Amino acid sequence: CGIVGCVLKNDKVAPILLDSISKLEYRGYDSVGLATAFDGKINLKKDEGQIKKVDDKLNLADMPGNYGIAHVRWATHGDPSRENSHPHLNSSCTIAVVHNGIIENYLAIKEDLQAEGYEFKSGTDTEVIPHLLDKFIGEGLDLEKAVRKVIGVIEGAYAIAAICVDEPNKVVATRKDSPLIVGIGEDEYFVASDSPAILKYTNNIAYLEEGEIVILTEDGVTFKDANDKVMKKDIDVLDWSPEMAEKEGYDHFMIKEINEQDAAIRNTLGEKDKIKDIVDEVKETINRVVFVACGTSYHASLTGKYLIESLVGIPTEVLLASEFKYSAKALNDQTLVIFISQSGETADTLKALDAANETSKTLAIVNVRGSSATRKADYVIQTQAGPEIGVAATKTYVSQLIAIYLFSALLADDADLLKRLEKVPDYIDEVLKKQGIIREISNNYKRDKDAFFIGRGFSYPIALEGALKLKEISYIHAEGYAAGELKHGPIALIDKNIPVVVVVPPGQDHNKIMSNLQEVKARGADVLGIGAIGDKDLIKESDNVFLINSEVDDILAPLVYIVPLQLLSYHVSVLRELDPDKPKNLAKCVTVE
Ligand code: G6P
Repeated sequence: CGIVGCVLKNDKVAPILLDSISKLEYRGYDSVGLATAFDGKINLKKDEGQIKKVDDKLNLADMPGNYGIAHVRWATHGDPSRENSHPHLNSSCTIAVVHNGIIENYLAIKEDLQAEGYEFKSGTDTEVIPHLLDKFIGEGLDLEKAVRKVIGVIEGAYAIAAICVDEPNKVVATRKDSPLIVGIGEDEYFVASDSPAILKYTNNIAYLEEGEIVILTEDGVTFKDANDKVMKKDIDVLDWSPEMAEKEGYDHFMIKEINEQDAAIRNTLGEKDKIKDIVDEVKETINRVVFVACGTSYHASLTGKYLIESLVGIPTEVLLASEFKYSAKALNDQTLVIFISQSGETADTLKALDAANETSKTLAIVNVRGSSATRKADYVIQTQAGPEIGVAATKTYVSQLIAIYLFSALLADDADLLKRLEKVPDYIDEVLKKQGIIREISNNYKRDKDAFFIGRGFSYPIALEGALKLKEISYIHAEGYAAGELKHGPIALIDKNIPVVVVVPPGQDHNKIMSNLQEVKARGADVLGIGAIGDKDLIKESDNVFLINSEVDDILAPLVYIVPLQLLSYHVSVLRELDPDKPKNLAKCVTVE
């Protein structure tokens, strides 16, 4: 979910709330809602569906008032419906609340409140908050003190923003385990789940820590620490521009972001000196590396295992963040635990990071500045992809990869690899110039129901990530497999109806993967070969091919060979008339475990 709160000095807030919350739609698009207060009354518009659909129906920007809150929802408790949409109100409609996260003890609180006569309209966990605020304000507290008291009652993860008609021109917000930033503009003050929401209005950002409360009024922003003392906060000036969070002429964010990958890598290569400082600090003390991540970041981590083990020889494992705790006991102070997360806010990853901090050195590779992971880890590598809005990660993925390559090459003191990495943006640029070929090829796959992606060694994570991309935005069942493993089971499924994407870069396993290609071809599969320019065998044996600069060998392949596979999934999704930026049931930043 995503939340926004805003107070303006002399203007109508609803159009700004609508604009800001639209920039967070990648965080959830099951439903949307806005609440403003004016003349002693809460105005509320909300419904299930994507913002455009709800706005067409309700005209969301048309509400009076200069302060308010907004929400986009990724459903956890309660199905997507108007009743379950945020903001949620107290029974007398004087208080409105938006919330991102999960209140774990909401059932017990709800039962107590119901016993006291409070009536609930939704199936959400969130609705306990406006009723608790109502109760505490009824006991004589103001909104800020009531929010403070609510924090003492609720358990779980939350970023909350609340307004109350009896305290005009004020938004009170707090957080625990869910992100919340504060934007300080001129005569306009914001809280938001992420910076794209406010980039158009201000670049001055402060980060709220757990237990802190922020009070926005028309005169400015006040921060209070966990002991209720007014505190000063450092202001971070973001160097992201508002255009970076716009489509700028592209049909979708995803295709824009795919086309920004050469620049994302070039900019992240600029972090080399900082990465070298980290390597110098840790290299003498570690004898084991553990990567921890989810989703696409997990696939970047798998590439990290191949790199560190082959270049440095340090044993390296990769764990899914949600499975981390089952292996946590095996860590010690000679283990470096590397957390990969574009958002830096994935709940599973943050929980694992907290646990790893108890025993080991931790390093986070993160794209979003100031995010929770950057504040929890001992060391941070900042990828320089710029804001990524498309739900399916593309440019943040290749940026994570280049950061891992730099880290591994520096750890191995491999000057030759470091030099070769500098050419990667040019190789990607060459692929992007030929993207029309992939668009054409995509026509062959738009009606398929299943697909396989296979690769070996460094190409195995490419196959996994290619399959994930296709399934998440095209809804085609796709499986990535280690090419050598195919014959131990999945080959039973291969027939003429199944396309197989074979990742065949030049290098030591070229001939072995070509044998695996022959195996699927012998069963009638339609083969799409991704390989090197001049690879005559591949061209001869494939039904379709996409060819890449032959200087890109198996070691560099993860950085470049993924690009045609991203393009394939994008074009298949568009040809199937789907929205690649907003795949159903997914959200870009998952702040629940
Ligand atoms: C969600 C997104 C994925 C992403 C994963 C991990 O599931 O839909 O695209 O790879 O979270 O996100 P992170 O921010 O930790 O990299």
